Amino acid sequence: MSWTTKPSATTKIPTRAEPYCTQAMKDRWTRELLPRYATKQGALMPILHEIQHAYRHIPYQAMVEIASFLSIKPADVMDTVTFYEEFHTEPVGKCVIGICQSIACEVCGHQKLLDHVRNRLGIEPHETTDDGKFTLLALECLGSCDTAPVALFNETLHENLTIEKVDRLIDEAARMDGKGGGGHH
Ligand code: FES
Repeated sequence: MSWTTKPSATTKIPTRAEPYCTQAMKDRWTRELLPRYATKQGALMPILHEIQHAYRHIPYQAMVEIASFLSIKPADVMDTVTFYEEFHTEPVGKCVIGICQSIACEVCGHQKLLDHVRNRLGIEPHETTDDGKFTLLALECLGSCDTAPVALFNETLHENLTIEKVDRLIDEAARMDGKGGGGHH
């Protein structure tokens, strides 16, 4: 899980005129999402997933909009966003590489993999390449200790990783973007 500092009352929250939660989204949520949950708050997770997917992060303004849509406090939305690794308050790359750093993976050489990706992409954990292609994360146990070391490339879990396999996955991700290369700082 990730803990980020909450902006204090004096922090200026960047806003834009155009809402992140569009009227079309809200209409659809009202129609399709809200009826599925006993309380409005129940719809928070699927809404956060949609916003994360649509904008590659969940800006503070979007949290405020979601809170008002669900009639809950913005702080409650922010607590949820900062609790889950899958949500980001800054835009993430098209390919998010999450290397497991918990004990089984640590024993099986996660550091070698992490160092390799750091060097190849020129980023530290929680950073994104300048070209917006890759974000690197170090994650807690992904529940696949018997096939350590493991990593997530976006939503897909890759097991028994080696540097060669990781390189192939990065090559594939870079190719899928259509431009090739990893992108260095
Ligand atoms: S320690 Fe890495 S999957 Fe459990």
